[in-house]
Amino acid sequence: MRVLSGIQPSGTMHLGNYLGAIKQWVRAQNPEAYYCIVDLHALTLDISPTQLQEQTLSLLAELLASGLDVEECTIFLQSQVSYHAQLSWLLECVATYGELTRMTQFKEKGSRQEGFRAGLFTYPVLMASDILLYDAQEVPVGDDQRQHLELTRNIAERFNNRYGETFKVPRGVQPPSAARVMDLQEPTNKMSKSVSSDLGKVLLTDSPKDIEKKIKKAVTDNDNDVHYDWETKPGLSNLLEIYSSISSETPQQVAQRYERYGDLKNDLAQVLIAEIEPITKRYFEYLNDPAELSRILHQGAQKASAVAKGTYERAAKAMGLLG
Ligand code: TYM
Repeated sequence: MRVLSGIQPSGTMHLGNYLGAIKQWVRAQNPEAYYCIVDLHALTLDISPTQLQEQTLSLLAELLASGLDVEECTIFLQSQVSYHAQLSWLLECVATYGELTRMTQFKEKGSRQEGFRAGLFTYPVLMASDILLYDAQEVPVGDDQRQHLELTRNIAERFNNRYGETFKVPRGVQPPSAARVMDLQEPTNKMSKSVSSDLGKVLLTDSPKDIEKKIKKAVTDNDNDVHYDWETKPGLSNLLEIYSSISSETPQQVAQRYERYGDLKNDLAQVLIAEIEPITKRYFEYLNDPAELSRILHQGAQKASAVAKGTYERAAKAMGLLG
């Protein structure tokens, strides 16, 4: 199964990234799976050059520590495969200004920044290039990427109608639980690298003590009735979904086993520690060998380029570029 997905090197991975996306990546890995660290996307943010370099290698270490295996799938760096930026221009000439202005993430992020970068606006087209270059059938992502996936499908269909059958039309896939992990302090907002406070997000590098503290302090309501209901109990429902995505029960089944919030929180903290502690340990081991991390990226870029080249040339030719 041809799979493609991506993640920005914009800071330490949090529980939302891990449960919403990376756990799915690990499950879906196969020789036809391509996973991309999207450093070009991270340039839409104001990250210093040294920070971007560090975060790129550290994200690779996190991905490997989470269970991705370069013998089973391809991990690569977006900027090392030049076809991503090249196809993006072609697709900018297929996407419309109107549809890009309707992107919720752009509206949210743009409205928070004065003088935001133009790349923040065209970003979803670069994401469409990432996906379409690999003829991906499935794209495992969290719920917040749903609209970008719809746009990708629309661009692919429009291109195929106008220039002839060129791209596979991909399908986004979300996990059954934890497709949208919410902020532990503000459970009506999603957990996010940039917006959430320290207490609002669990990081893959958190110590067991930190994890315990964050889960115990997670905001819930006061009526102590363990019930899965997003309308009236967003904080509690978020905890139940997190639990459910690790234990593979439904959130309702988890809820049935508890009478008090405190007991649920205690157990959830332990379940999370058991999941995260070994990842943190492996992460520091991988991080100790930056030469190996660079080698992995270069090897991945070679494999990815071989696929991307063919698709790019097909698209360029279809549009009438001489090549
Ligand atoms: P990014 O880097 O913000 O997030 C990476 C993945 O984590 C998921 N995610 C979440 N899932 C559940 N709950 C949350 N609170 C949460 N926060 C983040 C995201 O849905 C994503 O799957 N535009 C993308 C990166 C990208 C991409 C691509 C993805 C670029 N090209 C091609 C797929 C295919 C982004 O900014 O993800």
